Amino acid sequence: MDIAMPCEQEQLTEEQQQELLTRVIREYNRDEHNLIQILHYAQAIYGCLPLDVQRQVARDMDVPLSRISGVVSFYSYFSTEPRGEHTISVCLGTACYVRGGKKIVDRLKEVLDVEVGETTPDRLFSLEIKRCFGSCGLAPAVSIDDTVHKRVNPNKIQQILRMYGWEGD
Ligand code: FES
Repeated sequence: MDIAMPCEQEQLTEEQQQELLTRVIREYNRDEHNLIQILHYAQAIYGCLPLDVQRQVARDMDVPLSRISGVVSFYSYFSTEPRGEHTISVCLGTACYVRGGKKIVDRLKEVLDVEVGETTPDRLFSLEIKRCFGSCGLAPAVSIDDTVHKRVNPNKIQQILRMYGWEGD
């Protein structure tokens, strides 16, 4: 497919977003086998997949809305709400769990005042849980966007957050 996706700074009008998504669906031949790829594009266009976007996909592909919603809710990388500027993923794979991953999650929830799966009100961070980044020898590990922070100490979590523009204390 040769459709250029908008970069993060590029603001599309609602009409342009709809047109782009319709084009993506057409390029994928409205084929349900391509649903996951189509939803990835839809999330890139809109930033997330709220119900009205799911409805457009369902209508344009001529598949039931329940099918779309089922896929969106099954995969953790799809989100129905706008994501934060930075995604914090705490590993709770076995090595990280036994070395204090859960304490990191609790500390982040407390410091940022969000639950797992939520985004801070200022939209700076989204918090999620993952299973193993392959850094088990340096557990517990936390990734923020594309950077993996290793041997994270829950008491030093604020220091890490400040690197991403957090201004709390
Ligand atoms: S278990 Fe956390 S990086 Fe492998």
